[in-house]
Amino acid sequence: MPAVIQLDNITKVYKVGDETIRALDGVNLEVGPNEYVAVMGTSGSGKSTLMTILGCLDRPTAGTYLLDGKLTTRMGSAALARVRNERIGFVFQSFELLPRFTALKNVELPLIYSRSGWWNRRKRAKAALETVGLGPRMRHRPNQLSGGQRQRVAIARALVARPAILLADEPTGNLDSATSDEILGLFDQLHTSGQTIILVTHEADVARHARRVIRMKDGKIRSDLGSQEDAARYGHGTPTTFAQDSTPKA
Ligand SMILES: Nc1ncnc2c1ncn2[C@@H]1O[C@H](COP(=O)(O)OP(=O)(O)O)[C@@H](O)[C@H]1O
Ligand SMILES: [Mg+2]
Repeated sequence: MPAVIQLDNITKVYKVGDETIRALDGVNLEVGPNEYVAVMGTSGSGKSTLMTILGCLDRPTAGTYLLDGKLTTRMGSAALARVRNERIGFVFQSFELLPRFTALKNVELPLIYSRSGWWNRRKRAKAALETVGLGPRMRHRPNQLSGGQRQRVAIARALVARPAILLADEPTGNLDSATSDEILGLFDQLHTSGQTIILVTHEADVARHARRVIRMKDGKIRSDLGSQEDAARYGHGTPTTFAQDSTPKA
């Protein structure tokens, strides 16, 4: 199957005063349809920078990025904004909801530039909120919702345009462990229904939900376990080290 994501030799250099920081240093990565990938690594290893590039929130200094077979690194900013809007769903640790808007309005926002009419946008936003179990809270504002509920709104917003990839940077970082489990259960459910997911975490318990685990260090990918290529190479359907079923559930 063709890759959803293909990164070739991606480098991202930040300049701060006289200092140059190679936040990403020659990253090669291929992610296929319906993969669930966890990105791990110590603080400063380049995880968020990688997500920023994958989400087309910023451009690499060098290298190429194909998303759904389209070369994003050659696109102008209008085309790139469109890709970001239609093909990518982003979930952040800090939710990033608009406080004055209801859950429903927050989820409708990514559709504002779509050609569909008002009624259709509303219908899709409601359906996305129902998918994440927040149907009964649609008219609430963020400060009237719990942390877990806010993150569900953010996930609904990320999904409403039916993106090719769902990117999540430490999505459970601000949640207690019971609520984190609920959110991870929701990601599992989305993956089962076909969503391609890339999630950043520094917790092994979180990474265990993914089928493939990438470890970063100093802007480079140091290991990549459980990829589809591995499965093909070793002749079994699921990865070894981080297989979801390898740890018995309590
Ligand atoms: N906007 C930025 N400007 C300058 N340096 C940055 C910026 N973003 C990240 N960095 C640096 O790039 C490196 C990788 O950062 P980051 O991708 O945030 O790591 P992680 O998410 O793994 O903690 C770090 O050294 C960080 O200080
Ligand atoms: Mg980070």
